[in-house]
Amino acid sequence: MINVPKGTKDVLPNQSYKWQFVENTAREVARVFNLSEIRTPVLEYTELFKRGVGETTDVVNKEMYTFEDKGGRSVTLKPEGTAGAARLFIENGLASSPMPVKTYYITPAFRYERPQAGRLREFHQFGIEIFGSKAYETDAEVIFAASSFLNKLGVKSRLEINSIGCKTCRAEYNRALKNYFAPHLNDMCASCRSRYDKNPLRMLDCKEDCCKKFTKDAPAITDYLCEECAGHFDGVKKLLSEQDLKYTVNPRIVRGLDYYSKTVFEFVTDAIGAQGTVCGGGRYDGLIEELGGAPMPAIGFAAGIERLLILMENTDAPFPDEDKPLIYIAGLDEKSRAAAFGAVTQLRLKGVRAELDHMSRSVKAQFKYADKLGVKYVAAIGENELSSGEVNIKNMKDGTQEKVKLENIYAYLTAKEKI
Ligand code: HAM
Repeated sequence: MINVPKGTKDVLPNQSYKWQFVENTAREVARVFNLSEIRTPVLEYTELFKRGVGETTDVVNKEMYTFEDKGGRSVTLKPEGTAGAARLFIENGLASSPMPVKTYYITPAFRYERPQAGRLREFHQFGIEIFGSKAYETDAEVIFAASSFLNKLGVKSRLEINSIGCKTCRAEYNRALKNYFAPHLNDMCASCRSRYDKNPLRMLDCKEDCCKKFTKDAPAITDYLCEECAGHFDGVKKLLSEQDLKYTVNPRIVRGLDYYSKTVFEFVTDAIGAQGTVCGGGRYDGLIEELGGAPMPAIGFAAGIERLLILMENTDAPFPDEDKPLIYIAGLDEKSRAAAFGAVTQLRLKGVRAELDHMSRSVKAQFKYADKLGVKYVAAIGENELSSGEVNIKNMKDGTQEKVKLENIYAYLTAKEKI
């Protein structure tokens, strides 16, 4: 037997309504925040992620699905959505649209990580990216969009925010980090030793135990912010507080991707073991320029749908009921099966979710099947019904029955139900 690839998952027919609920909620949040959908290819040229996400990150160094296509080009399955969105923005000249350009996406993403609860090799993100605004109001708006999405799903998490400054304040902070780490360097992992030269900030994100004991007492970026970055961060905090959105400042949040500047944030839970971050994002004012566009501020987030589903499963009423067929119409013999087919087809053409037998079942077995499907109404057509032109419609919930003319089934159902 050939199995699903390690770290990937199927979505089964009786589970997909949960995904649809999360995706519909994402689209509804995007609608009220006035975001428009973008779709980018699953494949991009590898260079995009090397330059965009950054060569000192684990994502680029260790986790990308990169291969040569038959034309000899190096391509990579997208490990996240931001770099592709930025490429789309530049390539399609969106800089000449009215600003800001407010976008969202729902996408698969691929990272070659060690699979565990909440960590997959193919996972899915709902993300938003807003291009063109440097105002701190936009940071607050993006954080509110994330929070509103999580609230609508009933997911409980805490919001942690930080500012990692701009090029100016980062230069001074990097010096402070280097001074701090220098005496410990020999006891740290090989990746951190190379990060020390290339991007010391990334050392704070190291997951190795030998490094964690040093990173915990490292200087905090918030003590090194320049006036502009500190003012921007104060503005974000003020707006969050004014709208009663609770947060804590966690100066240890640096995020695992290189493009960030100024505000970064994560929504975190303790409920899925080590994989507690359900949503992460931040400002990335340098990325568009890094990828060859004109300087352009931008900010966004992405939430992991699989992690959200795990959290939702643990709440009391995580999903609305699965959508079930409203009516099942049984045909008792050859002729009445054709009549049942006609009745069900007419109902479907009018927008009613209706079902009938496909397996030549006996009448008894058809009723059992209808029950398993969880339909609300059942009707059976036999010789008598064909000659009288009337069927008995039984309400499976309360057991009541009513005689209805065959051609009036739709009218009957619409009188009883919202269709
Ligand atoms: P990220 O923190 O790498 O950020 O990923 C965002 C979310 O995707 C995580 O919080 C997590 O819920 C989910 N996620 C990441 N890796 C996995 C995995 N292996 N398995 C399951 N879920 C996972 C980004 O991707 C940025 N592009 C977010 C962003 C958008 N920043 C600005 N705009």
